[in-house]
Amino acid sequence: MRDVAIIGAGLSKFGERWNSGIKELMAEAGIMALEDAKITSHEIEMLYGGTMASGRFSGQEHVAALMADQLGFHNVPAVRIENACASGGSALRQGYMAIASGIHDIVVVGGVEKMTDVTASEATTALGGAGDQEWELFQGITFPGLYALMAKRHMYEYGTTEEQMASVAVKNHENACKNEFAQFRKRITIDEVMRSKVVSDPLKLLDCSPISDGAAVVVLASMDKAKKYHDTPIKIMASEQSSDTLRLAERESLTAIKATQLAADKAFRHAKLAPKDIDVVEVHDCFTIAEILAMEDIGFYKKGTAAKAIADGETALNGKISVNTSGGLKGCGHPVGATGVKQAAEIVWQLRGDAKDRQVKGAEIGMTHNVGGSGATAVVHIYKRAD
Ligand code: COA
Repeated sequence: MRDVAIIGAGLSKFGERWNSGIKELMAEAGIMALEDAKITSHEIEMLYGGTMASGRFSGQEHVAALMADQLGFHNVPAVRIENACASGGSALRQGYMAIASGIHDIVVVGGVEKMTDVTASEATTALGGAGDQEWELFQGITFPGLYALMAKRHMYEYGTTEEQMASVAVKNHENACKNEFAQFRKRITIDEVMRSKVVSDPLKLLDCSPISDGAAVVVLASMDKAKKYHDTPIKIMASEQSSDTLRLAERESLTAIKATQLAADKAFRHAKLAPKDIDVVEVHDCFTIAEILAMEDIGFYKKGTAAKAIADGETALNGKISVNTSGGLKGCGHPVGATGVKQAAEIVWQLRGDAKDRQVKGAEIGMTHNVGGSGATAVVHIYKRAD
Protein backbone atom coordinates (compact mmCIF):
# COMPACT_ATOMS: atom_id res chain seq x y z
CA MET A 1 0.00 0.00 0.00
CA ARG A 2 1.24 3.48 -0.84
CA ASP A 3 1.33 6.40 1.61
CA VAL A 4 -1.40 9.03 1.09
CA ALA A 5 -1.36 12.72 2.04
CA ILE A 6 -3.81 15.62 2.11
CA ILE A 7 -2.37 18.51 0.12
CA GLY A 8 -5.29 20.93 0.12
CA ALA A 9 -8.36 21.74 2.20
CA GLY A 10 -11.29 24.12 1.78
CA LEU A 11 -14.63 24.86 3.39
CA SER A 12 -17.65 26.96 2.64
CA LYS A 13 -19.04 28.99 5.49
CA PHE A 14 -21.44 26.71 7.42
CA GLY A 15 -24.89 27.89 8.49
CA GLU A 16 -28.20 28.94 7.00
CA ARG A 17 -27.03 29.84 3.50
CA TRP A 18 -30.26 31.11 2.00
CA ASN A 19 -28.56 32.64 -1.04
CA SER A 20 -26.46 29.63 -1.99
CA GLY A 21 -27.33 26.27 -3.52
CA ILE A 22 -25.28 23.06 -3.64
CA LYS A 23 -23.29 24.40 -6.61
CA GLU A 24 -22.24 27.61 -4.87
CA LEU A 25 -21.35 25.80 -1.63
CA MET A 26 -19.24 23.28 -3.55
CA ALA A 27 -17.51 26.02 -5.53
CA GLU A 28 -16.65 27.95 -2.36
CA ALA A 29 -15.04 24.92 -0.70
CA GLY A 30 -13.58 23.44 -3.89
CA ILE A 31 -11.82 26.56 -5.15
CA MET A 32 -10.29 27.10 -1.71
CA ALA A 33 -9.00 23.50 -1.61
CA LEU A 34 -7.56 23.60 -5.15
CA GLU A 35 -5.84 26.92 -4.49
CA ASP A 36 -4.46 25.57 -1.22
CA ALA A 37 -3.04 22.54 -3.07
CA LYS A 38 -1.76 24.79 -5.88
CA ILE A 39 -3.17 22.29 -8.32
CA THR A 40 -5.15 22.75 -11.54
CA SER A 41 -8.43 21.01 -12.23
CA HIS A 42 -6.81 19.18 -15.18
CA GLU A 43 -4.56 17.24 -12.81
CA ILE A 44 -7.46 15.65 -10.87
CA GLU A 45 -7.97 11.96 -11.68
CA MET A 46 -11.01 10.97 -9.58
CA LEU A 47 -13.68 12.51 -7.34
CA TYR A 48 -15.64 11.01 -4.47
CA GLY A 49 -18.58 13.11 -3.28
CA GLY A 50 -20.29 12.54 0.05
CA THR A 51 -23.90 13.56 0.55
CA MET A 52 -26.62 11.92 2.61
CA ALA A 53 -29.95 13.09 1.27
CA SER A 54 -29.46 15.82 -1.32
CA GLY A 55 -32.57 14.58 -3.14
CA ARG A 56 -34.75 14.93 -0.04
CA PHE A 57 -33.20 18.25 1.01
CA SER A 58 -32.88 20.01 -2.33
CA GLY A 59 -34.22 17.77 -5.10
CA GLN A 60 -30.73 17.25 -6.49
CA GLU A 61 -29.32 13.76 -7.06
CA HIS A 62 -26.24 12.79 -9.06
CA VAL A 63 -24.19 15.05 -6.84
CA ALA A 64 -20.68 13.69 -7.47
CA ALA A 65 -20.87 14.37 -11.21
CA LEU A 66 -22.31 17.80 -10.38
CA MET A 67 -19.33 18.50 -8.11
CA ALA A 68 -16.88 17.46 -10.83
CA ASP A 69 -18.72 19.63 -13.34
CA GLN A 70 -18.87 22.60 -10.98
CA LEU A 71 -15.16 22.38 -10.16
CA GLY A 72 -14.13 22.06 -13.80
CA PHE A 73 -12.74 18.52 -13.61
CA HIS A 74 -13.06 17.46 -17.20
CA ASN A 75 -14.63 14.04 -17.58
CA VAL A 76 -13.09 12.53 -14.43
CA PRO A 77 -14.83 9.51 -12.90
CA ALA A 78 -17.05 10.83 -10.10
CA VAL A 79 -18.81 8.64 -7.53
CA ARG A 80 -21.33 9.63 -4.89
CA ILE A 81 -20.87 8.09 -1.43
CA GLU A 82 -23.87 7.84 0.89
CA ASN A 83 -23.35 6.58 4.43
CA ALA A 84 -25.78 8.82 6.35
CA CYS A 85 -23.92 11.37 8.52
CA ALA A 86 -20.69 9.44 7.84
CA SER A 87 -20.93 10.09 4.07
CA GLY A 88 -18.02 12.56 4.16
CA GLY A 89 -15.72 10.34 6.23
CA SER A 90 -16.60 7.36 4.05
CA ALA A 91 -15.83 9.37 0.89
CA LEU A 92 -12.44 10.28 2.39
CA ARG A 93 -11.73 6.60 3.00
CA GLN A 94 -12.61 5.79 -0.63
CA GLY A 95 -10.20 8.48 -1.81
CA TYR A 96 -7.51 7.14 0.50
CA MET A 97 -7.98 3.59 -0.82
CA ALA A 98 -7.93 4.70 -4.46
CA ILE A 99 -4.48 6.22 -3.94
CA ALA A 100 -3.10 3.65 -1.47
CA SER A 101 -3.96 0.89 -3.95
CA GLY A 102 -1.99 2.59 -6.71
CA ILE A 103 -4.97 3.17 -9.02
CA HIS A 104 -4.85 6.99 -8.80
CA ASP A 105 -2.29 9.63 -7.77
CA ILE A 106 -4.53 12.68 -7.24
CA VAL A 107 -8.09 12.42 -5.91
CA VAL A 108 -10.56 15.07 -4.73
CA VAL A 109 -12.96 14.26 -1.90
CA GLY A 110 -15.95 16.53 -1.36
CA GLY A 111 -18.92 16.58 0.96
CA VAL A 112 -22.02 18.75 0.77
CA GLU A 113 -25.50 19.11 2.23
CA LYS A 114 -28.01 21.91 1.78
CA MET A 115 -30.52 21.21 4.56
CA THR A 116 -32.28 24.48 5.32
CA ASP A 117 -34.54 24.68 2.27
CA VAL A 118 -37.01 22.22 3.84
CA THR A 119 -39.06 22.52 7.04
CA ALA A 120 -37.66 21.18 10.32
CA SER A 121 -40.16 18.35 10.16
CA GLU A 122 -39.09 17.38 6.61
CA ALA A 123 -35.44 17.53 7.69
CA THR A 124 -36.18 15.31 10.70
CA THR A 125 -37.87 12.75 8.43
CA ALA A 126 -34.98 12.79 5.96
CA LEU A 127 -32.44 12.36 8.77
CA GLY A 128 -34.55 9.56 10.23
CA GLY A 129 -33.73 7.49 7.16
CA ALA A 130 -30.27 6.95 8.69
CA GLY A 131 -31.92 4.62 11.19
CA ASP A 132 -34.09 1.59 10.49
CA GLN A 133 -37.03 3.05 8.56
CA GLU A 134 -39.40 0.19 9.40
CA TRP A 135 -38.59 -0.40 13.06
CA GLU A 136 -37.54 3.08 14.19
CA LEU A 137 -38.66 6.05 12.06
CA PHE A 138 -42.03 4.53 11.11
CA GLN A 139 -42.73 3.88 14.78
CA GLY A 140 -42.25 7.57 15.50
CA ILE A 141 -38.74 7.89 16.90
CA THR A 142 -36.46 10.67 15.64
CA PHE A 143 -32.67 11.02 15.82
CA PRO A 144 -32.77 13.21 18.90
CA GLY A 145 -35.02 10.46 20.35
CA LEU A 146 -32.50 7.69 19.64
CA TYR A 147 -29.63 9.61 21.21
CA ALA A 148 -31.88 10.55 24.13
CA LEU A 149 -32.31 6.82 24.85
CA MET A 150 -28.53 6.43 24.90
CA ALA A 151 -28.20 9.47 27.15
CA LYS A 152 -30.80 8.16 29.63
CA ARG A 153 -29.07 4.81 29.85
CA HIS A 154 -25.65 6.47 30.32
CA MET A 155 -27.11 8.59 33.11
CA TYR A 156 -28.62 5.48 34.71
CA GLU A 157 -25.47 3.33 34.48
CA TYR A 158 -22.79 5.93 35.22
CA GLY A 159 -24.50 8.82 36.96
CA THR A 160 -23.82 11.18 34.03
CA THR A 161 -25.68 14.46 34.57
CA GLU A 162 -27.47 16.85 32.23
CA GLU A 163 -25.07 19.60 33.34
CA GLN A 164 -22.09 17.48 32.30
CA MET A 165 -23.68 16.94 28.87
CA ALA A 166 -24.32 20.69 28.66
CA SER A 167 -20.59 21.31 29.22
CA VAL A 168 -19.90 19.63 25.85
CA ALA A 169 -22.07 22.23 24.10
CA VAL A 170 -20.52 25.11 26.06
CA LYS A 171 -16.98 23.99 25.08
CA ASN A 172 -17.86 23.48 21.43
CA HIS A 173 -19.60 26.86 21.10
CA GLU A 174 -16.50 28.43 22.73
CA ASN A 175 -14.28 26.82 20.06
CA ALA A 176 -16.72 27.79 17.29
CA CYS A 177 -16.33 31.44 18.29
CA LYS A 178 -12.73 31.17 17.03
CA ASN A 179 -13.69 29.58 13.68
CA GLU A 180 -14.65 31.88 10.82
CA PHE A 181 -16.46 29.00 9.05
CA ALA A 182 -18.70 28.13 12.01
CA GLN A 183 -22.50 28.42 12.11
CA PHE A 184 -22.69 29.57 15.74
CA ARG A 185 -20.01 32.07 16.78
CA LYS A 186 -21.81 32.60 20.04
CA ARG A 187 -20.83 31.66 23.60
CA ILE A 188 -23.41 29.82 25.68
CA THR A 189 -23.56 28.90 29.36
CA ILE A 190 -24.54 25.70 31.17
CA ASP A 191 -27.57 27.56 32.45
CA GLU A 192 -28.66 28.52 28.92
CA VAL A 193 -28.33 24.91 27.77
CA MET A 194 -30.35 23.71 30.78
CA ARG A 195 -33.08 26.29 30.10
CA SER A 196 -33.32 25.67 26.34
CA LYS A 197 -36.45 23.86 25.13
CA VAL A 198 -36.61 20.10 25.53
CA VAL A 199 -36.27 18.33 22.17
CA SER A 200 -36.25 14.75 23.48
CA ASP A 201 -35.71 14.34 27.21
CA PRO A 202 -32.97 14.68 28.45
CA LEU A 203 -31.66 16.40 25.28
CA LYS A 204 -32.51 20.06 24.89
CA LEU A 205 -32.16 22.37 21.89
CA LEU A 206 -28.62 23.35 22.89
CA ASP A 207 -27.60 19.67 23.27
CA CYS A 208 -28.32 19.17 19.54
CA SER A 209 -26.29 19.86 16.43
CA PRO A 210 -28.25 22.14 14.10
CA ILE A 211 -29.72 21.84 10.62
CA SER A 212 -27.03 23.35 8.38
CA ASP A 213 -25.86 24.13 4.86
CA GLY A 214 -22.22 23.67 3.93
CA ALA A 215 -19.54 22.00 1.87
CA ALA A 216 -16.00 20.76 2.45
CA VAL A 217 -13.30 19.58 0.03
CA VAL A 218 -9.87 18.01 0.47
CA VAL A 219 -7.30 17.11 -2.19
CA LEU A 220 -5.40 13.84 -1.73
CA ALA A 221 -2.13 12.83 -3.37
CA SER A 222 0.23 9.89 -3.27
CA MET A 223 3.10 10.79 -0.93
CA ASP A 224 5.67 10.72 -3.74
CA LYS A 225 3.71 13.47 -5.54
CA ALA A 226 2.52 15.39 -2.47
CA LYS A 227 5.60 17.56 -1.86
CA LYS A 228 5.44 18.84 -5.43
CA TYR A 229 2.21 20.62 -4.48
CA HIS A 230 2.39 21.55 -0.79
CA ASP A 231 5.28 22.21 1.60
CA THR A 232 3.40 20.57 4.48
CA PRO A 233 1.50 17.52 3.29
CA ILE A 234 -0.51 15.80 6.00
CA LYS A 235 -0.08 12.04 5.95
CA ILE A 236 -3.10 9.81 6.56
CA MET A 237 -1.61 7.23 8.93
CA ALA A 238 -4.76 5.11 9.20
CA SER A 239 -8.19 4.97 7.58
CA GLU A 240 -10.57 2.50 9.19
CA GLN A 241 -14.30 1.88 9.24
CA SER A 242 -16.77 -0.42 10.96
CA SER A 243 -20.50 -1.05 10.99
CA ASP A 244 -23.20 -2.34 13.36
CA THR A 245 -26.97 -2.91 13.38
CA LEU A 246 -29.03 0.07 12.23
CA ARG A 247 -31.52 -0.71 14.99
CA LEU A 248 -30.53 0.64 18.36
CA ALA A 249 -32.68 -2.04 20.03
CA GLU A 250 -30.46 -4.82 18.70
CA ARG A 251 -27.16 -3.41 19.92
CA GLU A 252 -25.14 -5.13 22.62
CA SER A 253 -25.11 -1.91 24.60
CA LEU A 254 -26.87 1.46 24.64
CA THR A 255 -23.91 3.15 26.31
CA ALA A 256 -21.25 2.28 23.72
CA ILE A 257 -21.02 2.54 19.94
CA LYS A 258 -19.32 -0.68 18.98
CA ALA A 259 -18.56 0.47 15.41
CA THR A 260 -16.52 3.33 16.90
CA GLN A 261 -14.67 0.98 19.24
CA LEU A 262 -13.78 -1.38 16.39
CA ALA A 263 -12.79 1.32 13.88
CA ALA A 264 -10.68 3.18 16.45
CA ASP A 265 -8.98 0.01 17.61
CA LYS A 266 -8.07 -0.92 14.01
CA ALA A 267 -6.84 2.63 13.34
CA PHE A 268 -4.59 2.70 16.40
CA ARG A 269 -3.14 -0.70 15.47
CA HIS A 270 -2.58 0.36 11.85
CA ALA A 271 -0.85 3.59 12.88
CA LYS A 272 1.01 1.85 15.75
CA LEU A 273 -0.29 4.52 18.12
CA ALA A 274 -2.43 4.70 21.27
CA PRO A 275 -5.05 7.22 22.47
CA LYS A 276 -2.41 9.02 24.56
CA ASP A 277 -0.56 9.94 21.33
CA ILE A 278 -3.42 12.03 19.89
CA ASP A 279 -3.05 15.81 20.36
CA VAL A 280 -6.20 16.99 18.61
CA VAL A 281 -9.37 15.14 17.61
CA GLU A 282 -12.62 15.99 15.86
CA VAL A 283 -15.32 13.62 17.17
CA HIS A 284 -18.91 13.22 16.01
CA ASP A 285 -20.88 15.29 18.53
CA CYS A 286 -24.25 15.25 16.77
CA PHE A 287 -25.69 15.42 20.30
CA THR A 288 -23.75 16.19 23.47
CA ILE A 289 -24.05 12.58 24.68
CA ALA A 290 -22.44 11.48 21.38
CA GLU A 291 -19.19 13.29 22.25
CA ILE A 292 -19.14 11.60 25.66
CA LEU A 293 -19.67 8.18 24.05
CA ALA A 294 -16.98 8.90 21.44
CA MET A 295 -14.40 9.90 24.05
CA GLU A 296 -15.00 6.62 25.85
CA ASP A 297 -15.36 4.37 22.81
CA ILE A 298 -12.20 5.65 21.11
CA GLY A 299 -10.35 4.93 24.36
CA PHE A 300 -9.48 8.40 25.63
CA TYR A 301 -11.44 7.72 28.84
CA LYS A 302 -12.74 4.63 30.64
CA LYS A 303 -16.51 4.00 30.36
CA GLY A 304 -18.44 6.33 32.59
CA THR A 305 -15.61 8.82 33.19
CA ALA A 306 -15.58 11.11 30.11
CA ALA A 307 -18.50 13.34 31.12
CA LYS A 308 -16.78 14.49 34.32
CA ALA A 309 -13.46 14.99 32.50
CA ILE A 310 -15.14 17.17 29.87
CA ALA A 311 -16.98 19.18 32.55
CA ASP A 312 -13.63 19.63 34.35
CA GLY A 313 -12.15 21.20 31.18
CA GLU A 314 -9.74 18.39 30.25
CA THR A 315 -10.88 18.45 26.60
CA ALA A 316 -10.94 22.22 26.09
CA LEU A 317 -8.62 23.91 23.59
CA ASN A 318 -5.06 23.18 24.76
CA GLY A 319 -6.37 21.00 27.59
CA LYS A 320 -5.16 17.45 28.20
CA ILE A 321 -6.50 16.61 24.72
CA SER A 322 -8.09 19.24 22.47
CA VAL A 323 -11.48 18.02 21.25
CA ASN A 324 -13.58 19.57 18.48
CA THR A 325 -11.49 22.67 17.98
CA SER A 326 -13.62 23.55 14.93
CA GLY A 327 -16.63 23.83 17.22
CA GLY A 328 -17.65 20.29 16.31
CA LEU A 329 -21.00 19.48 14.80
CA LYS A 330 -22.64 21.39 17.65
CA GLY A 331 -20.94 24.75 17.16
CA CYS A 332 -19.56 24.66 13.61
CA GLY A 333 -22.74 23.09 12.20
CA HIS A 334 -23.66 19.71 10.74
CA PRO A 335 -24.43 19.73 6.99
CA VAL A 336 -24.41 15.96 7.20
CA GLY A 337 -22.61 14.99 3.97
CA ALA A 338 -19.92 17.63 4.52
CA THR A 339 -19.12 16.91 8.16
CA GLY A 340 -16.60 14.08 7.76
CA VAL A 341 -14.60 16.08 5.20
CA LYS A 342 -14.76 19.24 7.34
CA GLN A 343 -13.32 17.27 10.25
CA ALA A 344 -10.33 16.33 8.05
CA ALA A 345 -9.87 19.95 6.93
CA GLU A 346 -9.76 21.10 10.57
CA ILE A 347 -7.10 18.52 11.45
CA VAL A 348 -5.05 19.51 8.38
CA TRP A 349 -5.02 23.15 9.55
CA GLN A 350 -4.20 22.13 13.12
CA LEU A 351 -1.25 19.95 12.08
CA ARG A 352 0.09 22.60 9.70
CA GLY A 353 -0.08 25.21 12.48
CA ASP A 354 -2.61 27.22 10.47
CA ALA A 355 -5.57 27.11 12.89
CA LYS A 356 -5.16 30.73 14.04
CA ASP A 357 -6.88 31.55 17.35
CA ARG A 358 -7.89 27.95 17.91
CA GLN A 359 -4.43 26.47 17.27
CA VAL A 360 -3.47 23.56 19.52
CA LYS A 361 0.09 24.25 20.63
CA GLY A 362 2.56 21.70 19.26
CA ALA A 363 -0.12 19.55 17.62
CA GLU A 364 1.59 16.64 15.85
CA ILE A 365 -0.93 13.81 15.66
CA GLY A 366 -4.61 14.29 14.84
CA MET A 367 -7.70 12.13 14.52
CA THR A 368 -11.19 12.34 13.04
CA HIS A 369 -14.24 10.27 14.01
CA ASN A 370 -17.38 10.37 11.86
CA VAL A 371 -20.55 8.43 12.72
CA GLY A 372 -23.48 7.45 10.52
CA GLY A 373 -26.94 7.16 12.08
CA SER A 374 -27.04 6.16 15.72
CA GLY A 375 -23.79 4.21 15.26
CA ALA A 376 -24.36 1.81 12.37
CA THR A 377 -21.28 3.29 10.66
CA ALA A 378 -18.12 4.73 12.18
CA VAL A 379 -15.09 5.99 10.26
CA VAL A 380 -11.82 6.87 11.98
CA HIS A 381 -8.73 8.51 10.45
CA ILE A 382 -5.36 9.31 12.04
CA TYR A 383 -3.06 12.00 10.60
CA LYS A 384 0.40 13.48 11.09
CA ARG A 385 2.63 15.97 9.30
CA ALA A 386 4.64 14.15 6.65
CA ASP A 387 8.38 13.78 7.46
N1 COA B 1 -28.08 24.78 18.47
C1 COA B 1 -28.14 26.11 18.74
N2 COA B 1 -29.11 26.92 18.28
C2 COA B 1 -30.04 26.37 17.48
C3 COA B 1 -30.03 25.01 17.14
C4 COA B 1 -29.00 24.21 17.67
N3 COA B 1 -28.95 22.90 17.40
N4 COA B 1 -31.08 24.75 16.32
C5 COA B 1 -31.71 25.92 16.16
N5 COA B 1 -31.10 26.90 16.85
C6 COA B 1 -31.49 28.28 16.98
C7 COA B 1 -31.88 28.89 15.66
O1 COA B 1 -30.77 29.56 15.09
C8 COA B 1 -32.97 29.86 16.08
O2 COA B 1 -32.35 31.01 16.63
P1 COA B 1 -32.97 32.47 16.35
O3 COA B 1 -34.35 32.43 16.95
O4 COA B 1 -32.02 33.39 17.03
O5 COA B 1 -33.00 32.62 14.86
C9 COA B 1 -33.69 29.15 17.22
O6 COA B 1 -32.69 28.25 17.77
C10 COA B 1 -34.89 28.35 16.80
O7 COA B 1 -34.55 27.62 15.66
P2 COA B 1 -35.53 26.62 14.95
O8 COA B 1 -35.02 26.43 13.54
O9 COA B 1 -36.95 27.06 15.13
O10 COA B 1 -35.30 25.28 15.77
P3 COA B 1 -36.08 23.95 15.56
O11 COA B 1 -36.82 23.66 16.81
O12 COA B 1 -36.83 23.92 14.27
O13 COA B 1 -34.87 22.90 15.42
C11 COA B 1 -33.61 21.18 16.46
C12 COA B 1 -34.04 22.64 16.50
C13 COA B 1 -32.64 20.92 17.60
C14 COA B 1 -34.81 20.23 16.59
C15 COA B 1 -32.91 20.90 15.08
O14 COA B 1 -31.78 21.72 15.00
C16 COA B 1 -32.52 19.45 14.94
O15 COA B 1 -33.33 18.63 14.56
N6 COA B 1 -31.24 19.10 15.22
C17 COA B 1 -30.78 17.73 15.11
C18 COA B 1 -30.28 17.45 13.72
C19 COA B 1 -29.95 16.00 13.56
O16 COA B 1 -30.64 15.11 14.04
N7 COA B 1 -28.87 15.71 12.83
C20 COA B 1 -28.42 14.38 12.59
C21 COA B 1 -27.72 13.86 13.77
S1 COA B 1 -27.36 12.14 13.70
